[in-house]
Amino acid sequence: MTDFIHRYEPATNAGSPPLLLLHGTGGDENDLLGLGKMISPGSALLSPRGRVLEHGMPRFFRRLAEGVFDEEDVRRRALELGAFVADARKQYGMTAPIAVGFSNGANIAAALLLLKPDVLAGAILLRAMVPLSDPPKAELGGKPVLLLSGQADPIVPASNSTKLAALLSEAGARVDHKVLPSGHQLSQADVTLARNWIGSVA
Ligand code: MLT
Repeated sequence: MTDFIHRYEPATNAGSPPLLLLHGTGGDENDLLGLGKMISPGSALLSPRGRVLEHGMPRFFRRLAEGVFDEEDVRRRALELGAFVADARKQYGMTAPIAVGFSNGANIAAALLLLKPDVLAGAILLRAMVPLSDPPKAELGGKPVLLLSGQADPIVPASNSTKLAALLSEAGARVDHKVLPSGHQLSQADVTLARNWIGSVA
């Protein structure tokens, strides 16, 4: 199996969609298990640890500076993550998961949607930004995407999240973009909106 340290928790409710949990910079495979359980009780949870280290902090791809990405690495790492999900689906008997990504994890999820659309059934992107300046033409065929941005996010300018929403919509995703009165950190509103959204698409 493609080599990612990860946690897997099997579903306890067959009707709940599997989730791919993708942590932010400095997080690990344990970080988002609680969030996953809150937004979709009973879902199978697949939670890999990012394989890139930035001063010891796990991430899903290299960056040159905050918000400035090594795009070659973004592409390579997104494909690597896609291969991991395919292997994990076979090993654990899962259907295509909905990604739940925060920050750097949301950015790799957005890259995965653009580069390997078949890997994900949909995505919840928490504080995401445009991962690739020149993405390939993706065909997202109505996949549902919830994009939750922070109005006062010091890392993701409003224009950038608006651009990501447009990029995904143009590729055929069914995008629901909401801007919350918060910064880069998650709030209770993120949890509530994500839970309601999963209930409406799953
Ligand atoms: C990134 O590097 O993906 C973004 O700057 C978000 C972050 O990880 O802080």
